[in-house]
Amino acid sequence: MKQPVSIAPAEGKLGILLPGMGAVGTTFIAGCLLARQNVAKPFGSLTQMGTIRLGKRTENKTPLIKDFVPLAEMPDLVFGGWDLFPDNAYEAAKTAEVLTEKHLDAIKDELEAIKPMKAVFFPEFVKRLRGEHVKEQTNKMELAEAVREDIRRFKKDNGLDRVVTVWCGSTEVHREPTAVHQSVKAFEQGLRDSDPAISPSQIYCWACLKEGVPYANGAPHLTGDVPAMLELARETRTPLGGKDFKTGQTLMKTILAPGMRARMLGIRGWFSTNILGNRDGEVLDDPESFKSKEVSKLGVLETVLQPELHPELYGDMYHKVRINYYPPRGDQKEGWDNIDIFGWLGYPMQIKIDFLCRDSILAAPLVLDLALFMDLAKRAGMSGIQEWLSFYFKSPITAPELYPENDLFVQMVKMKNMLRWMKNEDLITHLGHEYYD
Ligand SMILES: NC(=O)c1ccc[n+]([C@@H]2O[C@H](COP(=O)([O-])OP(=O)(O)OC[C@H]3O[C@@H](n4cnc5c(N)ncnc54)[C@H](O)[C@@H]3O)[C@@H](O)[C@H]2O)c1
Repeated sequence: MKQPVSIAPAEGKLGILLPGMGAVGTTFIAGCLLARQNVAKPFGSLTQMGTIRLGKRTENKTPLIKDFVPLAEMPDLVFGGWDLFPDNAYEAAKTAEVLTEKHLDAIKDELEAIKPMKAVFFPEFVKRLRGEHVKEQTNKMELAEAVREDIRRFKKDNGLDRVVTVWCGSTEVHREPTAVHQSVKAFEQGLRDSDPAISPSQIYCWACLKEGVPYANGAPHLTGDVPAMLELARETRTPLGGKDFKTGQTLMKTILAPGMRARMLGIRGWFSTNILGNRDGEVLDDPESFKSKEVSKLGVLETVLQPELHPELYGDMYHKVRINYYPPRGDQKEGWDNIDIFGWLGYPMQIKIDFLCRDSILAAPLVLDLALFMDLAKRAGMSGIQEWLSFYFKSPITAPELYPENDLFVQMVKMKNMLRWMKNEDLITHLGHEYYD
């Protein structure tokens, strides 16, 4: 990758477009509006709260990340999106039941003004939902062109300088790539032929990349991780990221598993189960959408523990993930983990986790950080897969020949070193130079 010579300043307004304005999308928008008015703090967001050490420990230089790299500022953000329900952001947030009335009423007018554009939706990709606010075109190329037109109109109507997109829509069914995904040429022919293998999310992604709009995928389904999208991202010099926000149980897993491995403690089994009752839970109740999620959730332990290097410790590990739709809990998910570990001489021990979390509260700051960092990447002239943002994803997209890095702490070091590198600062290797000089 070429080191940026200069990073264009974050001048003017940044539009953030969300395909999917449900629980996560509206919690994100509302949170930004509340933070803007200083009613609440954007906890959980590195771009707003995080710091970065520069130089040696003795130099005492640890600015806020947002003061170190030029990021779009909260007052300059404009929100929009698409959904298959016509509800404005206030109504959708009320339905989602994540935030209190006190919070929503403080920004009611602003939320009511944010109305979703009509969605691209094919029910065979999300079997538990039916759309009523969807585009009428039937040809997939015409639908893709309509999304491009939406982006241009949104930009013009709001006097925007730049736009980024973060998918906050439902999880689509699990699909493997087909011939239509192998090149831009094949994909565009597929759009013209309305090839059944092209999903709604791929139509949004193609339209964004064509418009030079960075695209990050917050769900686990197949979108940007196919050769056609990677080729288009490079061709249009647009950043691409994904996939599946790393929150809740998988966040815990990628915090804990690196610790077990660092201490060479063995693991015999890791059983994870969840109950959640929001619309996401309902969609994931469909086995085909759950399959997308299961693949994304199961992958993390392999790359953190590397059983091929440590067969005695992790070679026989049993790993199971379950998600149960349980309406009474709404967005307030509960996730249990039982971990059977072993130590010195093989003596067994157990760890139990009971995480009473709030799904959208964990995901919202990730949407903000991804939007701001993807915009930064674009202004720094970076394009294609943004692996340095793996920190935010359960199943990070990587170059085809590489395995993903899932250890949260390695991901954080990688991300902060990328920011230092972009600004021509020394990378921090944690080597104690003072002992070796
Ligand atoms: N909350 C978390 O912690 C978390 C973590 C990882 C991933 N995710 C993923 O984020 C996504 C959003 O989660 P949520 O809780 O907000 O779900 P949600 O059901 O509340 O919202 C999703 C919205 O997307 C809309 N939608 C579906 N298909 C669409 C399309 N083709 N175009 C436009 N809109 C469409 C739905 O109508 C719905 O309003 C899900 O895919 C979920 O799996 C969430």
